[in-house]
Amino acid sequence: MTIYLTGADRNAARRFRHQVRRRAFLLASALLRFTLSEVLGRPPGRITLERRPQRRPRVVSPRWAGQVALSVTHTDRWVLVGVLPGRARLGVDLEPTDRQPAEKLAEKLPWPDASRGSKLLQRWTLVEAALKAQGRGLTGLSGLELIGGRQEAWRFESEGWRILSAPLKGLAGYPREVGAVAVACEMS
Ligand SMILES: CC(C)(COP(=O)(O)OP(=O)(O)OC[C@H]1O[C@@H](n2cnc3c(N)ncnc32)[C@H](O)[C@@H]1OP(=O)(O)O)[C@@H](O)C(=O)NCCC(=O)NCCS
Repeated sequence: MTIYLTGADRNAARRFRHQVRRRAFLLASALLRFTLSEVLGRPPGRITLERRPQRRPRVVSPRWAGQVALSVTHTDRWVLVGVLPGRARLGVDLEPTDRQPAEKLAEKLPWPDASRGSKLLQRWTLVEAALKAQGRGLTGLSGLELIGGRQEAWRFESEGWRILSAPLKGLAGYPREVGAVAVACEMS
């Protein structure tokens, strides 16, 4: 029998009080193990994942797998995980269209012009994906600089990282969700 969830995953999931959130965490763990086992050629239950609060997920063992970037996002209806082999880092973000960032956060988005509604939410996901790829999460918002780009993809820089973030166009058939995927490379 193939094991996609370990005792450690179940223990870690206990920190979530709400069942929907707990299940999303477990599903993300199983999806990460499934994909990592394909990429690393290891049984999914033999891969040690670290999933700490406010940190990006990472592979702890096998050690040589340290250069696989992982990212996770959830809404009430979706769980999306990303696995990217190599030295670059990955960030994914999804938001339901009935959410909006708080005004104070929206003001800190790095575009020179203000935005509202669906455009604001798309920008928000582009930034969240970028900050997840960089690894700082929301605490990195004030240090994120917009370098250029247009609707298809945007370029950011932050604390020695060059980040490319693009809207998830594949979600076009799912009008209740907006998303983005970002890849960060360390500047040499
Ligand atoms: C935690 C944060 C990275 C993203 O939170 P979020 O958008 O609410 O939630 P998501 O489902 O998209 O992402 C959560 C996942 O991000 C990952 N994550 C957490 N901190 C991270 C970090 N510093 N770097 C990269 N990934 C991180 C974790 O895998 C987490 O999943 P887990 O808790 O099940 O382990 C952070 O940026 C945050 O708190 N954002 C505020 C959310 C907000 O105000 N949203 C407004 C809605 S429009």
